Amino acid sequence: MARFIDELKRTHRNGDLRAADEGKEVILFGWVASYRDHGGCVFVDLRDRDGITQLVFDPDTKDFGDSPKEAYVAAQALRSEWVIGVRGKVVSRGGNKNPKLATGEIEIHAVELTIFNKAETPPFEIQDSIDTGEEKRLQYRYLDLRRAPLQRTLRVRHRINQVTRRYFDENGFLELETPVMVKYTPGGARNFLVPSRMNSGKFFALAESPQLFKQLYMVAGFDRYFQIVKCFRDEDLRLDRQPEFTQIDVEMSFVNQDDVFRIMEGLIFKVWKDVLGVDLNTLYPTGRFPQMPFEESMGHYGNDKPDLRFAMPHTDITSLVIEQKGGGIPFFADIAEKFTSGKYRRDLPAEIVKAMRVPQEFAQKLSRAELDKLEDFVKGMGAKGLARAKIDKEGAWTQSPLAKTITKELRDAINAATGAQEGDLLFFQFGKESQVQTVMANLRVHLAKKLTLIPESGHGGKWNFLWVVNPPLLEYDEDKKTWAAAHHAFTRPHDECVELLDPDPGKVLCYRYDLVLNGFEIGGGSIRLHDPEVQAKVFRALGIKDEDARQKFGFLLDALKFGAPPHGGIAIGMDRLAMLLSGSESLRDVIPFPKTQKGTDLMTDAPSHASAEQLAEVHVRVIEPPKA
Ligand code: AMO
Repeated sequence: MARFIDELKRTHRNGDLRAADEGKEVILFGWVASYRDHGGCVFVDLRDRDGITQLVFDPDTKDFGDSPKEAYVAAQALRSEWVIGVRGKVVSRGGNKNPKLATGEIEIHAVELTIFNKAETPPFEIQDSIDTGEEKRLQYRYLDLRRAPLQRTLRVRHRINQVTRRYFDENGFLELETPVMVKYTPGGARNFLVPSRMNSGKFFALAESPQLFKQLYMVAGFDRYFQIVKCFRDEDLRLDRQPEFTQIDVEMSFVNQDDVFRIMEGLIFKVWKDVLGVDLNTLYPTGRFPQMPFEESMGHYGNDKPDLRFAMPHTDITSLVIEQKGGGIPFFADIAEKFTSGKYRRDLPAEIVKAMRVPQEFAQKLSRAELDKLEDFVKGMGAKGLARAKIDKEGAWTQSPLAKTITKELRDAINAATGAQEGDLLFFQFGKESQVQTVMANLRVHLAKKLTLIPESGHGGKWNFLWVVNPPLLEYDEDKKTWAAAHHAFTRPHDECVELLDPDPGKVLCYRYDLVLNGFEIGGGSIRLHDPEVQAKVFRALGIKDEDARQKFGFLLDALKFGAPPHGGIAIGMDRLAMLLSGSESLRDVIPFPKTQKGTDLMTDAPSHASAEQLAEVHVRVIEPPKA
């Protein structure tokens, strides 16, 4: 072995060699992807992270004048995933070219072989597409990572990191670090706690984001900060959520919302160009992404991350229903009555009625059975059912339980509001606002996939970016019957809204924004509250007392008193960005060593129990949950 590596240095990688290299003597290292022994020759596909090269071990080859018999004999013992080194000559494959391989024009006639290491038979094949369950793949993640699709997505991550660093450096940002072990602050995501050995009974939290520290960098005068940073949140996991994830975190001084947008648009354009070779200028010739007010997004799409690769907007028909006193439909009449009697207020969350129009060209593709399946789909989200109506001649409704009692006035008004024409379908949801919004938002996307307006996963060649802007600063907590910060307590309200804080808190809009791509929130941020006077008013509206504020955010409140510049920022979910860029289905496909849905690491078997000694050392006692 000493001869290879020590004397024989690698000359090429396995994706490098072409017809032009014919005749060269080369030294290659890698893994045996496959081997075939026929016709007195051994053929090996040699793999490394850059590709595959075919090796031929032929005992009679005269390419180097010496006898390659020894290499041929050794090659007969090779098995999958053994790690080897070879010396040989690049030879044309003549008429036997393999157009599927980048190196398919040539092969290597090997004359010297070393086996660096043998391998046990892997638990699954190292192929591009395999049907091995994810559990097994995660248990042997290092083998899964050997597969080309994962090698590709991790390269995408690498590229994003490189482009990001270069871009921010060129634009005067400093890459600065922030602590991972921080003070626990309530609100926001649930934190992971870290017990302190040296401070009995006390805990650090793992930072859910560098938020407060990046603001302190602004107070300290660093002006422009960025960091590619790990964040930790003890949340319920989904395909687009991991407990440990990476943000591209940014903060800037002396900026307004538009300045932040411009910087981030510049980054996204660069990333798309550099990683995918896609010029977003053709889609967004002004270099800017469209913006949509939060209220419009909720009204038309049911959430603040609409997928705009297709239309099918919702129409909120609550006002129509109230005006027409329910229009002959008992459920609607009940809702209308609650509003007119004053039980419900339009400024607080209540019940709503929404409709979604499916145009004829799509409606005709949905069979009765499929429509019934849609009903099951919404019931799976807690909906009672999915009322629908088919539009017949002159706006009449058919195939609908609502059709029997609805007044012509309400029916015509709904047809007009939704733009429904003959042959179209209308779907309805009514009830608690949050429930209706969630069900209708998910139904819209589910239908679009069913109708193949968008693919099940991946971008389908479409990139629909959107800034969702101007959301309310406060949201009503129905359990506690109080107003709470919709995001975090340091978001700046619109100046003209400050006077509404007391009389009409629900109407106060703020400089908070989300960047949405194809229905995923890929980033979010805000312009911060740097003015202690306004900030005191916001705390009052939130019912946060001075001593509470001091206990929770004392260090930031102090810092803001020492000359804080106006500032704002954003964080991009880098894993989500990589997932969407690479067309992957889940964050687990773009995070090298991810956690499962249950928040565990199957490879290392973490989390694991701690010994009694370890626990005593950090002053912690385990309380076993009651047996189910
Ligand atoms: P926010 O909480 O919106 O903002 O997070 C920013 C972005 O991070 C991504 N993200 C996640 N990705 C994977 N797994 C998770 N569990 C997860 N949680 C969030 C999302 C999201 O848009 N400090 C603020 C930013 C700011 O105001 O500057 C923050 O963390 O893509």
